[in-house]
Amino acid sequence: MKSFFYMSMICLALILGVNGCKQKKRLSASAKTEERTSPDSTKSGLVMANFRDTIENIPVALYVLTNEQGMEATFTNYGQRLVSLMVPDRHGIFNDVVLGFSSLDSYRIGNGKYYGAVIGRYGNRIAGGSFELDGTPYTLAKNNGRNHLHGGVKGFESVVWRVAEHNGKQITFHRTSPDMEEGYPGNLDVRVTYTLTEDNALKIDYEAKTDKKTHLNLTNHSYFNLKGAGSGDINDHLLQVNADQFIPVDEELIPTGKLLPVANTPFDFRKEKPVGQEVNSTYEQIVLGKGYDHSFVLNDEPKTEEGLTFTAKVTEPFSGRVMEVFTDQPAVQLYGGNFMDGTGGGKKGKTYLYRGAICLETQHYPDSPNRPDFPSTMLEPGQTFRSTTVYAFSVMK
Ligand code: GLA
Repeated sequence: MKSFFYMSMICLALILGVNGCKQKKRLSASAKTEERTSPDSTKSGLVMANFRDTIENIPVALYVLTNEQGMEATFTNYGQRLVSLMVPDRHGIFNDVVLGFSSLDSYRIGNGKYYGAVIGRYGNRIAGGSFELDGTPYTLAKNNGRNHLHGGVKGFESVVWRVAEHNGKQITFHRTSPDMEEGYPGNLDVRVTYTLTEDNALKIDYEAKTDKKTHLNLTNHSYFNLKGAGSGDINDHLLQVNADQFIPVDEELIPTGKLLPVANTPFDFRKEKPVGQEVNSTYEQIVLGKGYDHSFVLNDEPKTEEGLTFTAKVTEPFSGRVMEVFTDQPAVQLYGGNFMDGTGGGKKGKTYLYRGAICLETQHYPDSPNRPDFPSTMLEPGQTFRSTTVYAFSVMK
């Protein structure tokens, strides 16, 4: 009888203990959930208040997109910047895979000027900072030696965008770039929508209209590190690029006008290989680019059902994270962070090292306004420019 009593007490204690444990687990899980959905901070650890301000009479804030798979993307309307992107690894552990800052002020100082931003009116360089349209010469802002880079001194990355629409899955930014802004003709009405899909993709839809003939080449300049932003360099990321040709440049990183086959060069990423495998080679184009800082001419196939061309695939073997890029643009600029120098302190106090990120900027060829033989970047009144790029995330099997 006595032993039955002791046994019952032990069982009771065990049951209570287990339940207590379960209860504790549940409590800590809900505490975590609360922390994530708290309106004051994000899953990526950003404090919303650090992004609130009024610039040019427009309120600036941090906007959050989430999906049912636990992904989170955050944006500020200052430069339409993708500030953080939480992506799961092969064990379901989330990490922030884009470089950026923890406050609006840091973005405004100018270090990491292009982190996560929309680039416009023209992604990459225009030689001599000028072009001619119908016999009229246009002089653009020169912000890269004697050349024009990424839209000029105050490009689309450094202006405030109005939030036209925002729900938990999608955000649309809008702005009219005034006639002659940074030297470009035409009032240009620009609308960009970012959608976080249920299959873990970030889709970017660009739309633009002008009231005067002009040139346009919009892109996004996210700096990815699939190990997590600030976790060393990206030399060991595996890269595949769907291009048989690339665009060689001169010492000012201006296209020479030729297209070169990638075969037998460090630019051959048709089969995946580590990004850093030949990044220090003595091949002339690698020396001129200080590594990879070149546009690749995309092959026409394969295409998705939506008609987007497979552009590139990046795999980080340790975490198993995979990013595939698809676009309707004719080229992609591969920039391997050759100008990064570890200054400027990133999110969570992390340091972003030399070659600490990979950028895959889908776009037209650089300097197209001065190269009639390159696909045209001209936009005329009455036309609507439309373009889509998708960054799709998964894990390697
Ligand atoms: C691009 C350019 C690079 C560099 C980076 C930003 O990708 O091609 O030369 O300017 O942007 O630092």
